[in-house]
Amino acid sequence: MLEISGIETSGAGVEAIEDVYGQAIRNCAARLDGDDPRFAAEALQDELARLARAAERGVVRPRHVLVIGGAGYVGSVMVRELLKRGYATRVLDNFLYSNSLSLEGLYDEPGFSLVMGDLRNPDTLDKALDGITDVVLLASLVGDPISKKFPDLTRSVNQDGSETVFRALEGRGIHKFVFTSTCSNYGMRDSDEPADETSELKPLSIYAETKVGFEKFILDNVDDADFIPTILRISTAFGLSHRMRFDLTVNEFAAALARGETLDVYDKDTWRPYCHVRDIAGAVIRTLEAPEASVRGEVFNVGADENNYTKAMIIDEILKHVDGDVRYVEKGSDPRNYRVSFAKIKRVLGFEPRHSVKAFVPELIEAVHSGLYLRSAEIPGYYGNYDVREEAAA
Ligand SMILES: NC(=O)c1ccc[n+]([C@@H]2O[C@H](COP(=O)([O-])OP(=O)(O)OC[C@H]3O[C@@H](n4cnc5c(N)ncnc54)[C@H](O)[C@@H]3O)[C@@H](O)[C@H]2O)c1
Repeated sequence: MLEISGIETSGAGVEAIEDVYGQAIRNCAARLDGDDPRFAAEALQDELARLARAAERGVVRPRHVLVIGGAGYVGSVMVRELLKRGYATRVLDNFLYSNSLSLEGLYDEPGFSLVMGDLRNPDTLDKALDGITDVVLLASLVGDPISKKFPDLTRSVNQDGSETVFRALEGRGIHKFVFTSTCSNYGMRDSDEPADETSELKPLSIYAETKVGFEKFILDNVDDADFIPTILRISTAFGLSHRMRFDLTVNEFAAALARGETLDVYDKDTWRPYCHVRDIAGAVIRTLEAPEASVRGEVFNVGADENNYTKAMIIDEILKHVDGDVRYVEKGSDPRNYRVSFAKIKRVLGFEPRHSVKAFVPELIEAVHSGLYLRSAEIPGYYGNYDVREEAAA
């Protein structure tokens, strides 16, 4: 007979339970090495609460995270961070941009598995969810241009498909569900005050509309969910990734000027917050390990106050490292202008990004100069969300 944390069990399950509890405690102890002790303690508290619920259901298993969209720009970095952290990790992805390359080298990694397919296919989703304890939903058509080019597909994946995923989690003993939304939801702000999580949302594209729509769906259904949903509104990403994207402002500007191209910059004084891909992975992991009371049904902006930049400020950073030809043009097609406050995620989750735009710019310039992205001209589709693979778009 084993009794831990008020749970009693006996028979064949005992060994498995001892294994799982042992793993939780070992993981927590390992975290004491690098993390703030508060986070290690909270991670243990959350894991014990999860195990108590799992034992009530009679199915106790170690943490196994499904990352839907894990082959993308953010996902391919996040999956590696999750594996490093000791989580078994599965990717569900339909390689919309022929981006399977981002997972090469991971395929035979212990703890890693892949289900190739579309999240909208019920059989595929069922297979992907088998044995899973937590789900991170990244997959969507990401960005204003691609959503404008494929409006029906965007609505079908980002709104209807996401709702299908949410409903499919019910009754499976899922612990956490993390949805990556976007700070683009704030659209064009009249005020210079940074937007917080309660600020009005003004989606200006189909991309942001569908993100706002699914956020609303989550918040309307959170009370009935038998798992813990959290919404992360993420800043525009930057950083190196196994699926690099050069259609994101910092990456695009720095790479173009490093290659000696003339760069047209629209609406140079518009503000936007930025966040490094590794920090995005960190925020997701922090959410997966936080106590239920801190994250259930909560919305968090993800980024850092000091990474709010205007486009002109980013150019100034880049021109400190390379000479470049920049033409400023007024009134572009993207009117988004917003500064964002990251006080809540810092206060509630103690989360603070470790990477800055300032430090990353010279890193990317060096990577371009070293020849790392020579092939980006040959296979441009891989390096940004410009067009989709026909079969995947059906
Ligand atoms: N990149 C950013 O600047 C940024 C900013 C804010 C929020 N986000 C959010 O982060 C998440 C990831 O963004 P990203 O930059 O990695 O995008 P990405 O386009 O690089 O990755 C999306 C992944 O989802 C997959 N996918 C798309 N439709 C699918 C479907 N129907 N079934 C299965 N897989 C599918 C794609 O193949 C791709 O691997 C998105 O939810 C996005 O809204 C990103």
